[in-house]
Amino acid sequence: METLLVKVTCDAQEELTAAGERIKQGGLVAFPTETVYGLGGDALQAASSRRIYEAKGRPSDNPLIVHIAEFGALHAIVREIPQSAILLAEKFWPGPLTMIFHKSELVPLETTGGLDTVAVRMPNHDIALSFIRAAGGYIAAPSANASGRPSPTCAAHVWEDLQGRIDMILDGGDVGIGVESTIVDLTDDVPMILRPGFITADMIREVLGRVEIDRTILDVNCKDRPKAPGMRYRHYAPKGELTIVEGEPDAVNATMLSLLTEAAAQGKKTGVITTTEYVDKFAADSVKCAGDRGDEAAAAAALYRMLREFDEEDIEVIYSIAFSEDGLGQAVMNRLLKAAGHQIIQV
Ligand code: TXA
Ligand code: MG
Repeated sequence: METLLVKVTCDAQEELTAAGERIKQGGLVAFPTETVYGLGGDALQAASSRRIYEAKGRPSDNPLIVHIAEFGALHAIVREIPQSAILLAEKFWPGPLTMIFHKSELVPLETTGGLDTVAVRMPNHDIALSFIRAAGGYIAAPSANASGRPSPTCAAHVWEDLQGRIDMILDGGDVGIGVESTIVDLTDDVPMILRPGFITADMIREVLGRVEIDRTILDVNCKDRPKAPGMRYRHYAPKGELTIVEGEPDAVNATMLSLLTEAAAQGKKTGVITTTEYVDKFAADSVKCAGDRGDEAAAAAALYRMLREFDEEDIEVIYSIAFSEDGLGQAVMNRLLKAAGHQIIQV
């Protein structure tokens, strides 16, 4: 299959209408959102969801997120809208927050990975919103990477992973946030965060009064199964062996320097993730800068690109600093720990 790569802005009505038509006919179109690029298909057609799993090589028990462009679109796809959802939507939609509801009959089980709940999000991105409307209002979209690869933060990443496997890629430039949306489950008495993202527990608590966080996010040794099926798979793993080094900056730098020297002495190609203040200190084969120390937004925006670049450069051993777990930092550390298979050295 030939994949069409189309550069778009939000007023490219003709292109967006054509992309919407592809979706209505059962096709797959990747599109930008404010978090990462999504791989879109018609959420209400079982066959489209099946095609999404196939194109990504994703296990079909890992449910998709349904993207909408209007709050009113929610009524048709969920059994009930709890008050908490209305409050959260008022504050955070459109935006990087996915909410989980009991699904209506309209949503095929193929879209929800066999579950009777459905995840819904309204992205804060003009191209995404116009595209969703042009496609009929309900786009099922996981991140537009091949399963097991880092999520795409630009159209070139989607092209690398999915060219020849999908109908079209809408290139709207780099995304803003760089890590996937926060997921909050509203189907139980107490709302629960299943995946950390830009919208933090504190921000949700301010609106709802209370929210819990899936224990497996906070405690890496927790033996419970994560509640979001997608969080159970080994994700975002670079080809090289990635280890996080955590502690005071001077001690971390000293440890990373000696570990990198050791790896280089064994003939390994080495990589490092550090911040602006320290990039000059390292002589690894690939030195990546995640922005200034303490700038978690810069780290989020750079993370997946850095991991992809290590793969392209065939880096075999990678050391990364740890990021603060405040605010967006919790999402960054959650993804980085997964990429590292939870290998972390405390110094
Ligand atoms: O920012 C985002 O959310 C991006 C953009 C494209 O919107 N999408 C995204 O989709 O990250 P994906 O498929 O890569 O991740 C969806 C996650 C998976 O971990 C999945 O298991 C979980 O959401 N999920 C979806 N529906 C669920 C449900 N009904 N119950 C529990 N978890 C669910
Ligand atoms: Mg994903």
